[in-house]
Amino acid sequence: MARFRDRVVLISGGARGQGAVEARMLVAEGARVVIGDVLEAEGRRLAEELGPAATFLRQDVTEEADWARAVAAAEALGGLHGMVNNAGIYIPRPLMETDAALFERHMRVNQLGCFLGMKAVVPAMQRAGGGSIVNISSTAGLRGSPGALAYSATKWALRGMTKAAAIDLAPRGIRVNSVHPGPIDTDMVKVWSNEQRAARIGQIPMGRMGTAEEVARLVLFLLSDDSAYMTGAELAIDGGASL
Ligand SMILES: NC(=O)c1ccc[n+]([C@@H]2O[C@H](COP(=O)([O-])OP(=O)(O)OC[C@H]3O[C@@H](n4cnc5c(N)ncnc54)[C@H](O)[C@@H]3O)[C@@H](O)[C@H]2O)c1
Repeated sequence: MARFRDRVVLISGGARGQGAVEARMLVAEGARVVIGDVLEAEGRRLAEELGPAATFLRQDVTEEADWARAVAAAEALGGLHGMVNNAGIYIPRPLMETDAALFERHMRVNQLGCFLGMKAVVPAMQRAGGGSIVNISSTAGLRGSPGALAYSATKWALRGMTKAAAIDLAPRGIRVNSVHPGPIDTDMVKVWSNEQRAARIGQIPMGRMGTAEEVARLVLFLLSDDSAYMTGAELAIDGGASL
């Protein structure tokens, strides 16, 4: 199946984890991908593995100039049809252990980064005849998340930003949806102790964490024309954790 033939997709924070799996699946389905990340060694290794269909560039999502370079890299590959706002940080602390610096750090990467990304891709997507933006939120953006005040704040913000942008961008032929994964087995959750991990799994009706592949399949659906009439939707992928 080549759902993404002649399509170019930009993935922020795509050097590892969920973003890297999305890049691999997209290339397997015919897409060209631009992978942005602050992790240069991992990003370059992935681009090498994927060959000429992939470009890596060092991109800090908090920098507007880096977004402009990423969009230019996509257009050099043949246009810009999809974007995954996937970059994120998770440094979990409860309210009383969260200081202003930690709060602002989450806001800059998770929230400001998503805003700058959506804004940066619009003109190029319009030039390509329309596009699809997928914002990676979390179940922490659907309900209270234990011990992660700043992270939750940003992931709730993404949910609202997605809906506002979906309305703004519909007349331009650009769809915007949010994905809300529950605990997914990537490097991000290595901060958990074994006890914390077991406790989180205990709260999931399906009794296990999700995989990056499972999230990637949903992201590809939202990037593709299979979801042509969907915009502003929030899709949980969490084994029932947010129920
Ligand atoms: N793993 C989970 O349990 C889980 C659950 C819900 C949502 N998410 C979200 O999924 C997305 C992907 O996370 P993951 O699980 O693959 O973890 P991950 O830590 O492997 O991936 C996050 C990526 O973002 C990159 N990044 C961080 N700061 C950046 C910056 N300033 N500029 C560019 N890139 C930056 C990291 O280098 C990393 O490659 C994140 O937005 C995360 O919040 C993860």
